[in-house]
Amino acid sequence: MANSAANVKVVQKGAHIGAEIQGVDLTQPVDDVTFKVIEDAFVEHELLVFQNQPITSEQQIEFAKKFGELSVHPFSPNSDDTPELILFDNDAENPPFATDCWHSDETFRSDPPLATMLHGLVIPEVGGDTMFASMTSAYEGLSDRMKNFISGLEAIHDFKPFRALFGDDEKSKEDLRYYEDRYPPILHPVISKHPVSGKPVLFVNPQFTVQIKGMSEAESRNLLDQLFEQSKIPEFQFRHHWAVDTVVVWDNRSTQHYAVHDYFPARRKLDRVTIKGGEVLPYSESADTQSVKNNKSPLPDNPKIKHGDHKPKRELARQLEEAGN
Ligand SMILES: [Fe+2]
Repeated sequence: MANSAANVKVVQKGAHIGAEIQGVDLTQPVDDVTFKVIEDAFVEHELLVFQNQPITSEQQIEFAKKFGELSVHPFSPNSDDTPELILFDNDAENPPFATDCWHSDETFRSDPPLATMLHGLVIPEVGGDTMFASMTSAYEGLSDRMKNFISGLEAIHDFKPFRALFGDDEKSKEDLRYYEDRYPPILHPVISKHPVSGKPVLFVNPQFTVQIKGMSEAESRNLLDQLFEQSKIPEFQFRHHWAVDTVVVWDNRSTQHYAVHDYFPARRKLDRVTIKGGEVLPYSESADTQSVKNNKSPLPDNPKIKHGDHKPKRELARQLEEAGN
């Protein structure tokens, strides 16, 4: 059946990130009106899941192109015929590389991707999930004093994990110099502004962010370590369990992900395409300097509501009561 906007259902799956799109058949063309519903949900929920989509690579590429022009990853196992297509096919002979670390894709580029799309082809019986974190929520979860402290800062991003792909011989060193010229360390704002929603995003990740500009090594390391903790907070996360023919697309501008490395030596095969992004915009509005609130799970400023039915003296009261009997 042809796709139609009226049939699209957006079902929210995570409190801060993740929705499932139902009523769309990706083996069929997606018209612009239908796509607009999907695109709006993509920006709002940051991560979309489409179940039961037995698409070909060509159909995946066609659907991805609705989001924008595709890009080619400089280090990934790309298809020879279609370099925009990355073939992740991991098993005992070919373990996954450098994906079990929190990151946004390719932030070592001056124009990191807008989005990444994966299609599940072979899924291990156990394990192989992908974790996602909303970095808009992670930013919101910082205290206002921390938001102000990091406001206006810039950080250096580098393709550091991929340096391990180059050997010590002269040819490898020459190849590395080529990539260093092409992808020199790049500055991005620590707090970026989402180009569509306008929301602030915490834009540092442990895979590619190496230093805060203008800080000593120790200051930078401590601050980055603290900021890297934000994506590890479960409230900001969504855990995706794969099935064959599930398609997932995430907003690389507002999320991070971590491929859980727990299925070796089983086989896991996914096709990936990446949608080109643009310059990372800075977010410059200040937070309220007087507030030190933490927005992980905002609650009214009422001790009874804030602490539920927890009381520090309950055990003491019980003991006194028993002693009295
Ligand atoms: Fe990734």
